[in-house]
Amino acid sequence: MIQFDHLKKSYGTGADAHEVLHDINLTIEDGEVFGFLGSSGAGKSTLVRTINLLERPTEGKVIIDGRDVSHVSGRELAELRTKIGMIFQNFNLFQQRTVLRNVTFPLELAHRPKAQRIERGRRLLRLVGLEGFEDRYPSQLSGGQQQRVAIARALANEPKIMLCDEATSALDSTTTVQILDLLRRINRELGVTLVIITHSLSVARNICDRVAMIDGGNIVEVGETAELFAHPKSDILRTLIASANEQNGRDEQPEAGNNTEDDAEDDGTREDR
Ligand SMILES: Nc1ncnc2c1ncn2[C@@H]1O[C@H](COP(=O)(O)OP(=O)(O)OP(=O)(O)O)[C@@H](O)[C@H]1O
Ligand SMILES: [Mg+2]
Repeated sequence: MIQFDHLKKSYGTGADAHEVLHDINLTIEDGEVFGFLGSSGAGKSTLVRTINLLERPTEGKVIIDGRDVSHVSGRELAELRTKIGMIFQNFNLFQQRTVLRNVTFPLELAHRPKAQRIERGRRLLRLVGLEGFEDRYPSQLSGGQQQRVAIARALANEPKIMLCDEATSALDSTTTVQILDLLRRINRELGVTLVIITHSLSVARNICDRVAMIDGGNIVEVGETAELFAHPKSDILRTLIASANEQNGRDEQPEAGNNTEDDAEDDGTREDR
């Protein structure tokens, strides 16, 4: 279980201090797929990065499985981070390492024996559908395949929690659906709690059990995905849904459409629910 308890985050000090998260209170249950939805600069990444302490709260607490982790450091912090995997929009693979050696990197850090690393690395690559790609380099893979490698690497230490920061934002709509399917499977089969950051309604709708809408450093509403989208309460979510619906309408009449740029984020996955 992940809890944010009166969490605040400021950047800068003294007169330059600028609060970007204001009194966040929220609980994410074990085994949940929980989404943070919001526009650019809302504070999604900052909030989620406090879970593995890539960002420290300025006030308040992050509590994981009942334990306040806000101030852990050293070996305790390293241990905490092995239980929390993370994937990013741009995959962040090591370009000079093969696919297999990307996946086994966290196991090298943990000083696991070589035979065990290789065995586990191969097993994870099978899990993400990349058997046979062990000896390739990231530059020889598609974006979707690179994200699969990143997912396998994030699973190397058998994390209980996986943080996904715009993990599908660089991918086309078909690949997005495939990666979301894989993440769902990891959630169901391995019981990993997923924390999904997205600015895409369709991604939230496709995969999240619950969603929190973040705006200007505040959680403006939170609820079960279907319920939230059926009865949005905040102006910002209402507006987002209305513009997505309008976009859908335009897509159905291609002669009237001129919105190729915005399509990437919202097509493909919206039919899923
Ligand atoms: N290291 C930093 N120093 C100062 N300000 C920062 C820093 N990181 C983020 N911010 C500010 O905090 C606010 C929230 O940023 P954050 O990256 O969490 O937003 P986001 O919701 O993830 O946006 P995006 O969708 O663009 O990734 C923004 O106003 C940003 O400028
Ligand atoms: Mg972000």
